[in-house]
Amino acid sequence: MSDVTPLYEGKAKIIYPTDRPDILRSYFKDDATAFNAQKKGIITGKGAMNCQISAHLFKKLEASGISTHFIDLLSANEMRVKAVAIVPLEVVVRNIAAGSLCQQTGLALGTVLPFPLVDFYYKNDALGDPLVTPDRIALLKLATAAQIDRLRESALRINQILTDFFQNCDMTLVDFKLEFGLDSNGQILLADEISPDTCRLWDRSVADPDRRVLDKDRFRQDLGNVEQAYAQVMERVLSQVV
Ligand code: TMP
Ligand code: ASP
Repeated sequence: MSDVTPLYEGKAKIIYPTDRPDILRSYFKDDATAFNAQKKGIITGKGAMNCQISAHLFKKLEASGISTHFIDLLSANEMRVKAVAIVPLEVVVRNIAAGSLCQQTGLALGTVLPFPLVDFYYKNDALGDPLVTPDRIALLKLATAAQIDRLRESALRINQILTDFFQNCDMTLVDFKLEFGLDSNGQILLADEISPDTCRLWDRSVADPDRRVLDKDRFRQDLGNVEQAYAQVMERVLSQVV
């Protein structure tokens, strides 16, 4: 890994300083957690696969006009990123009902939503990352009203780009989670990662509801063949020229 003291260690990544204060090194781990870390495991090779998938998707988004923190790949499971102050919100976009949306609304798994739903969650493990309203975001001073508008607009634009991208890879983008950060100029950059850990992806050529799952739900729900699903996503994503 590294002798350098990390700046921050999360559940799936470790962030290291570099010799430049405006640049950080993000190391992707094989560790996997679910249900606010109540379930823990290792997905062998996940760090490298998620790092490469994320790098490719960040490049695709940059080419489509989205500003991201990605600079370049340093090794199979490390990338250089621009230093940002992470906005403590998880921005989830949903195209099809799954996961917590089904649990909290009663919508059936697989219901196609009439419009992409944008949900904000307060990034706070101690509180279990609760769903928050714009008023609660203002109350807690997590973001300004103008920033919330920017995050929503950016998340919806990213959804359009990624939905088309994954369709070309014969996958359906069911839903996904984004994190954003502010650079030293106050500019909002897309940060964190975009990978099978943070997206639900269904194989469009498979109808069976368990077999079609190509993302971390295989780990969350003990569906088996987790590494194979991540490898399948990586192969399809990297085969697309950006
Ligand atoms: P949810 O249905 O559990 O709310 O998840 C929505 C999407 O967000 C799904 O693609 C998985 C992703 N996600 C994360 O990336 N991190 C998390 O901690 C959670 C709960 C979900
Ligand atoms: N990564 C999250 C956790 O362990 C949950 C998830 O992805 O389901 O808290």
